[in-house]
Parts: sequence; structure tokens; C-alpha cells
Amino acid sequence: MSSRRPRSRRAVAVVAPVLLSAALGASCTAPGETMATATSTSSHGIGGAGGVGVSSSGASVSGAGGAGGSELAVFEPGEERPGGDTTVDLRDAKSFQRPAGNLSSAHLGHFEAGRALFEVAWTVGGEVDRDGLGPTYVGTSCQGCHFRGGRGAPPPANQPMTSMLVRLSVPSPQGGFLADPRYGDQIQTRGIAGVPAEGWFSVDYEPRPGAYADKTPYELLAPTNVPHELAFGPLAPGTVLSARVAQPMLGLGLLSAIRDEDIEALADPDDADNDGVSGRRNRVPRDLDGTIRPGRFGWKANQPDLEQQAAAAFRGDMGITSPIYPEEDCPAVQSGCAAAVKPGIDIDADRLAAVGFFSHFIAVPYRPDAQEPEVLRGKALFGQAGCAACHRPSFTTGEISSLPELGEQRIYPYTDLLLHAMGPDLADGRPDHEATGDEFRTAPLWGIGLTKLVTGQARFLHDGRARSVEEATLWHGGEAEPAREAFAALSAEDRAALTRFVLSL
Ligand code: HEC
Ligand code: HEC
Repeated sequence: MSSRRPRSRRAVAVVAPVLLSAALGASCTAPGETMATATSTSSHGIGGAGGVGVSSSGASVSGAGGAGGSELAVFEPGEERPGGDTTVDLRDAKSFQRPAGNLSSAHLGHFEAGRALFEVAWTVGGEVDRDGLGPTYVGTSCQGCHFRGGRGAPPPANQPMTSMLVRLSVPSPQGGFLADPRYGDQIQTRGIAGVPAEGWFSVDYEPRPGAYADKTPYELLAPTNVPHELAFGPLAPGTVLSARVAQPMLGLGLLSAIRDEDIEALADPDDADNDGVSGRRNRVPRDLDGTIRPGRFGWKANQPDLEQQAAAAFRGDMGITSPIYPEEDCPAVQSGCAAAVKPGIDIDADRLAAVGFFSHFIAVPYRPDAQEPEVLRGKALFGQAGCAACHRPSFTTGEISSLPELGEQRIYPYTDLLLHAMGPDLADGRPDHEATGDEFRTAPLWGIGLTKLVTGQARFLHDGRARSVEEATLWHGGEAEPAREAFAALSAEDRAALTRFVLSL
């Protein structure tokens, strides 16, 4: 399991910039003509998408939300390697497990040590360096949920979840929400010998039919979480639930290397520019020192950094205590849980640091078809529909002195790392630090096209309800409603191009 994966430092052939108009083929306009005709924007009626024009330089596009337009009109050399020098020139089922292509050999051992701890199944006791599971837990290994470094998926009907979890909160009499006094803030689906599990949830789906503007029908599935075998009584009235699938692990160190000021610059909490897209940062505690930091990780940006994310997963999902979280989480009514607590912490600072290190350095795979005409056409449509207002194409990372491989890289994650109100249909209703019940962090889109290859399943959005990129897009509401409408107004051919572009990332 911990054997070294092949790495490739093979350079990608130098690529010449390709103008969108050229990519659109012979039937389309020459550089300098307006692109509205080239991309059939008007005929397919991207409502409210704003004017689309190619300047005399052939490089500017403005769309709904405007963002990233100019870089979306043309192929930008470098975007075929979305992780900069960390990119690995392979695209296969192991793509979310490989070390960054530029990881120094001095750092490789640390990565492999972290990967071993990520992959191994933890036990109740007796196994040196991997015991301390429970008393209650959801999974026995990180990779049990993040299979091959990929994302989770919902279970089949009436089955327990295996790669996702349910957080819960109850209304506080003082206003706001608190952890449930009997179940804590996350349902623990399993217990070690002699300790009762808390219960489990399955997911029921209700079909939600709809149709694109061209009358092509579609059917979305709206989820409901159904509790089973709750061991300590029913959920309190007003309890709010948030079901979340495990997120993919690629490129996370690069996201942590984006400068705070570059993210702040994109935030527009009061929508001062009046484009309908606001975007704000979550502020969350850094439990090691009690400071409040901007959130970066998790579906609601509820974690400030990858070390805390790892420590929280160890304790919250596996019952493994660490220097950051030295106490097991046994709510007062759960005497069996409390009685089974062993003294001491389960994972020490060094091994926790190895997992944190590993989490920084999973490579982003390259994009072999980044210059395909249909992909570039989809890229322009993505900009015109306003997707890039939140799914920001690129950043240049700042320096992290201890992790030089991540610094000064031009990266293409397609996220702004900000929270956006996504409307009532996507809302889980559960606040998470400063994120409200309908706010989610813009999901990075890089690597999304590899989902099925890596895990065998392709389910998208925070609770895995979407069975395709199209469904994920159709669930967008709130600030993303105009973008959703622009997408739904496209012709079948244009929807296919936009989707192909997203899957090429
Ligand atoms: C029970 C399933 C499960 C297990 C086990 C699990 N995770 Fe996760 N992981 C999740 C879920 C669900 C999320 C999203 C959490 C959220 O939004 O609050 C997540 C999020 C993350 C993220 C944030 C990714 C991002 O894009 O922001 C990292 C990093 C991570 N997990 C690492 C780990 C590590 C390291 C371990 C082992 C110590 C682990 N996980 C164990 C389910 C799991
Ligand atoms: C207002 C901001 C915003 C806009 C505009 C927007 N998105 Fe999103 N997108 C998000 C957020 C936030 C999520 C995460 C939602 C969730 O998990 O429930 C997301 C998730 C996704 C996902 C699923 C990613 C995953 O990892 O599961 C896809 C695919 C996607 N968006 C595509 C698009 C496309 C295509 C467009 C344009 C038609 C678009 N988005 C416009 C904010 C936005």
C-alpha cells in the first residue's frame, strides 16, 4: 500500500496560444470579429449573460459575472498543467495518490510516511502506531472515505453511508445552534466492542423533473436523510443535518498556498459591484492557538488548514486523539463510550504532521485535451455563462517557506475559495461557523473529470446528489441562479461542449 508510485517529470511540449476563434473552426469568425456570432450566444439566448465580444486583440470576453472572461477566450499556455510544476503528466485511476511532480527527494519519504498513515486501517489496540480507533467512529481509515484519494458517494437505497458523514446541530435556547447534547456534532455510525454505535442514516431520493430551454427533459434527485437505530433517543426537534461526501485530495497544498489577500480581493460580501455574486470568507477557530482564521477547506470552508483538517478527521471520523484534539468526543449520556476511553493520545505530533504533509502534496494531473477545439469552445461558454465568477480559473501561489515546491506556481483550480449562497434547493440549513445554511465554498473543479476513473463512481456536490456535471450545474441557485439559467438556455451541443470542458479539468 505504501509502495512508491511512479512519478513523471516529463515536460509537456511547448504549446502555442490558440485563439478561440481559430478553435471554433472554419464556420466561425476570424480573430477580430465579434464572438457573439462565433459562439451562437444570441441564438441560444444566454439570458443576461451580457455582451460577448472579442477585442481587436482577439482576447477579451465579458459574460455574466464578467470574471475571468479574457483568460477564458483563448488557450493560455500553462493551463494544460493546472498544478504548475507540481503537475504529473499522467491521468489514470491513481491520479489522486501521486506525489507532486516537483517534490524534492528529501521530502518524498515524509510524503510516503503520511500516505501510509492515510491508507492504513486503524485498530482498537495492539498494533503499534495505528491503534486507538473509537470508542465510536465512522471509518477505520482516511482512504476508506477518500478512496484512492478521491471523493465519496452516497450509499444505495436503505444502506448505511460508507464514504460520507452526517453533521448535526440543535437550536440553542439563546439563539443559534449547538452540538446535539446526546449525539455531538457528527453521527458516529460504529462503536468498538461493548460501545454502542450512535445510529446511522440512509438517503432517500425524490425525483425532481425539469427541462432545458430547448425542452430536453432531465430529472434531478432531491435527497432526504433518514435516521436509523438512533441509540440515544430521537433527534431533538429542530435538529439540522448536513450530509457530506468525502472530498477529493488533489492539489490541496496549492490551495493552501494561495495568498490570503488574493482571496480577500475576490470577496464582495455586500455585492458592491452589483453583479449578483457576492462571496465571502468563513472565519473559523484555529484550535491549536485559539485564533480565528479564514476558512479554506471543507465544503463550507470550515477548516483553516490541512493540519487541523487531518486532526479533526482523525478524532471526528475515527476516534483517534492527537495533540490538537486530545479528548475523545463522548457526549455525557454515552457512558459506554466514556468507559472505553483509554488514557493518552492516539497519534503523536510527528505522525500527524506526516499526514498533514501528505495532504499538501497530492499532484494535480495534466490536461491532455486542454487545446481541443470543443474543450476551448466549452471554456468560452463557461465564462459567458458566468461560471467563472465563482469558479475562478487561476491564481499564482505565494511562498510557503517550509514547503518551497508549492510557491510561485501558476495554478488553475477553478475556485475562489469563497462561500456563496446557493439557494434553498442546495441548502442543508446547518450553519457552520460563519457559513449559513445555504452557503458553500466554491468547489474546485480541477481533476473532476477523473472522478469515475479513480473511485468507480461520479457523484457531485456536497452530499453527492448529482449524478453528472450537468446535474450539479442544474442544482445551482441563489447567487448562481443566473449562471444556472444561462446553462439551461444553451443548445444541447453547447451544453455538451461546456460539460466536456469541465470534465477536461
Ligand atoms: C467518514 C469518512 C471520512 C473519513 C474517515 C475521513 N474523511 Fe476527510 N473528509 C470527509 C468529508 C465528509 C469531508 C468534508 C468535510 C466537511 O465539509 O466538513 C472531508 C474533507 C477532508 C479534507 C478537505 C478537502 C478539501 O477539499 O477541503 C481533507 C484534507 C481530508 N478530509 C483529509 C482526511 C484525512 C487526512 C483523513 C484521515 C485522518 C480523513 N480525511 C478521513 C470524510 C472523511
Ligand atoms: C455563485 C457562485 C457559483 C457560480 C456562478 C457557479 N458555481 Fe458551481 N459551485 C459553486 C459552489 C458553492 C459549489 C459547491 C456546492 C455544493 O457542494 O453544494 C459548486 C459546485 C459545482 C460543481 C460540483 C463540484 C463538485 O466537486 O462536486 C460543478 C460541476 C459546478 N459547480 C459547475 C458550475 C458551472 C458549469 C457553472 C456555470 C454554469 C457554475 N458552477 C457556476 C459556486 C458557483
